Amino acid sequence: MMKSVGFIGWRGMVGSVLLERMIQENDFIKIHPHFFSTSQPGQDGPIINNILFKNLKDAYNINLLKEMDIILTCQGGFYTNAVYSKLRKENWRGYWIDASSTLRMSDDSIIVLDPINLKIIQEGLDNGIKTFVGSNCTVSLMLMALGGLFSKNLIEWISVSTYQAASGAGAKYIIELLKQMGALYNVVSKDLLNKSYSILDIEKKVTKEIENNQFPLKYFPIPLAGNLIPWIDIDMNNGQSREEWKGQFETNKILGFKNKVIIDGICVRISSIRCHSQSFTIKLNKNLSLKNIEEIIVSHNNWVSFVPNSIEETISKLTPSSVTGTLNIPIGRLRKMNIGEKYFSAFTVGDQLLWGAAEPLRRMLNLLINI
Ligand code: HSE
Repeated sequence: MMKSVGFIGWRGMVGSVLLERMIQENDFIKIHPHFFSTSQPGQDGPIINNILFKNLKDAYNINLLKEMDIILTCQGGFYTNAVYSKLRKENWRGYWIDASSTLRMSDDSIIVLDPINLKIIQEGLDNGIKTFVGSNCTVSLMLMALGGLFSKNLIEWISVSTYQAASGAGAKYIIELLKQMGALYNVVSKDLLNKSYSILDIEKKVTKEIENNQFPLKYFPIPLAGNLIPWIDIDMNNGQSREEWKGQFETNKILGFKNKVIIDGICVRISSIRCHSQSFTIKLNKNLSLKNIEEIIVSHNNWVSFVPNSIEETISKLTPSSVTGTLNIPIGRLRKMNIGEKYFSAFTVGDQLLWGAAEPLRRMLNLLINI
């Protein structure tokens, strides 16, 4: 029987990408979709395959939610906090798929990334697990890139630096970043046309504009355009940001390890739009040749690709702008490091909204549809 699937948060950035992907993959013909809204019940919903979904359901109405076989929410942690336990207390036994981090580390949830942990997902389903949560975006993107090495238990530790796009903070942050870029341009636009400009005058004007009280700055804690922010999410009071903490804990949960792989580093927000990049120093527990490492990495899944460590290949294939809007996970800059034979560097890029957020949820939905 076709399952009833309730969608919450489908209008937001991750939700919109999810719907786009579901339309591309013809997923809607496999389900009875129901669209909910936290703020506009009764209004019109999305148009999908030329059908307008009228009369949005109230996302806080537990009785309506209870009618769903599957609920997929991209609404955020506040919604999960408000609704999830009420639904379960009412003995709702449906499947809950969630983009937010609220339920990620709970014992009765599985973090989903099926190219990496399909076996754990299937065992969970057999054991009656009903709650499936998408992982942190940098974690998914790292695992998609390095899955081959993880699956062969070759990694002893990873030190990582991230370069995270504005989209990871949310839609309004992208808008704010673009306004900031515009404000910087506007303050020097005339000077840029003047052939005898003084670069230091331009630089001073731009720097002054960043410090100006009128600079667009409602959401980011400090300006991002012309800048970067080396802290993402809350302080864990152990020196780490929560984004940094997630790297090790979520990875080990996804892989079913009890903190076996050590991962740590510094997470940084930069001014790219929707692709996260990561630079790794990796210590293997064996001395493998670079050719061998490359083969293990690329044979793991259909989305990862190897970028040879040359200037041309790197700058054309290993950047946020070359990956954005695709499911590609390029990995390159592979080389043995001066530190020793078992250490190598790597750099990877992935779309934060696709493999970093919507795609693992879409694929989980497909696994459940077919049960
Ligand atoms: N926490 C991530 C970020 C979003 O801030 O970029 C993806 O989970």
